[in-house]
Amino acid sequence: MKSHFIMRGCRVKHIYSCGFVFVSLYWFMAQALFFQVMRVEGSTDQAASKSFMFPINLDPLQFLNLEAGVWSDFKSLINATKGYSSDAIAHLKLYFAQFGYLDLPEGMIASADFDDAVEAAIRLYQQWFGLPITGILDLPTLYQLIQPRCGRADVLESFFDINDRKKTQITTGIKHYSFFPGNPVWTSKRSLTYAFSPSLETTRVSTAARTTAFAEAFAQWSAVVPLTFKEISSYDDADIKIEFADGDHSDGQPFDGMLGILAHSFSPEDGRFHLDNAEYWTADMTSEKSPFAMDLESVAVHEIGHLIGLGHSSAKNAIMFPSLSPREVKRQLVDDDIQGSQSLYGASQSFQGSTDSFQSTNQTANGVFGRFLDLWLCWFLLTIHLLASFSHA
Ligand SMILES: *[C@@H]1O[C@H](CO)[C@@H](O)[C@H](O)[C@H]1NC(C)=O
Ligand SMILES: *[C@@H]1O[C@H](CO)[C@@H](O)[C@H](O)[C@H]1NC(C)=O
Ligand SMILES: [Zn+2]
Ligand SMILES: [Zn+2]
Repeated sequence: MKSHFIMRGCRVKHIYSCGFVFVSLYWFMAQALFFQVMRVEGSTDQAASKSFMFPINLDPLQFLNLEAGVWSDFKSLINATKGYSSDAIAHLKLYFAQFGYLDLPEGMIASADFDDAVEAAIRLYQQWFGLPITGILDLPTLYQLIQPRCGRADVLESFFDINDRKKTQITTGIKHYSFFPGNPVWTSKRSLTYAFSPSLETTRVSTAARTTAFAEAFAQWSAVVPLTFKEISSYDDADIKIEFADGDHSDGQPFDGMLGILAHSFSPEDGRFHLDNAEYWTADMTSEKSPFAMDLESVAVHEIGHLIGLGHSSAKNAIMFPSLSPREVKRQLVDDDIQGSQSLYGASQSFQGSTDSFQSTNQTANGVFGRFLDLWLCWFLLTIHLLASFSHA
């Protein structure tokens, strides 16, 4: 109604400038709305866990053709519900137990039955990942289940010891960044060293590219918390020991070949940092054509988060989110990662402003216009517009 009124205020000779103002106005309004949506996704409030993480147009056939390494058999479970029985269910139970969704006492053989325990694990998993909570192995759930991921659990062991289970489930579902039990941090020193195993090295990435990828990954964290990281050559003396290992590498957590588990690392002040040598690691996704390529730096930034004391985050855009798709490049810390690490260590001296402005500034740099500039321009154009229509009237 309002725009109709304003349009009538325009004389023919002003129609072009009037039209221009209109087009601009709606363009900037659309921009402002777009960045509002972006912020909701990046925010640390409850909404983020419910954010739209499922690729809306995923084709079931495309899904069935996805290569998922050792987890490919889960695809046969599409739409499985209680009462179903298959070896893939026994495998899925081990998966849920490994990542903290199912309590499977050590040495107990997992049965092939889709029972109440599996359903409860699926519901917990769906809640943690912000998926529709259906209790069945629907497409969105299976799609997330087969994504390559970090070997550390999402739901920590202590979860099953707590009596007030329902309450814990709810808190687990809505919180984002997390810590290890007892909140361990590097207390004795803040200047840490790291070194690469002289024997367990990557063969896919050149030494120079590997060195740069890790240096950039460590720099992300030292920019926000008061920790420094320096590469040294002596593996034995380093605080953080990095190795590319195959299969069983004597820490009780064997790697599983291409895709599946990508890497794992230990909480402070352990310092062990292991990457699955069977992955198709790359330092430069633009020149790498393999559909299974995994970005080394993205995984390194994530694992360093564990090394300094962060657990997994359920915020989809966070570095500490547990999974990473093949060919996905995700190297930048977001608010959730920054707030989590700063609540363990405080902010580094070089860290500028609040975590809130950190992301806004970066959006300004990346987007066409910043969010605040957009809103300001919106008001400016609206004012000009109204003044123009009043003077015509
Ligand atoms: C799974 O269930 C959905 C919804 O009921 C249905 O649209 C889809 O065709 C089913 N997929 C398979 C492979 O059975
Ligand atoms: C924004 O991102 C860049 C990398 O793209 C990073 O170097 C910079 O620190 C970030 N912003 C701020 C405010 O520091
Ligand atoms: Zn992890
Ligand atoms: Zn290991």
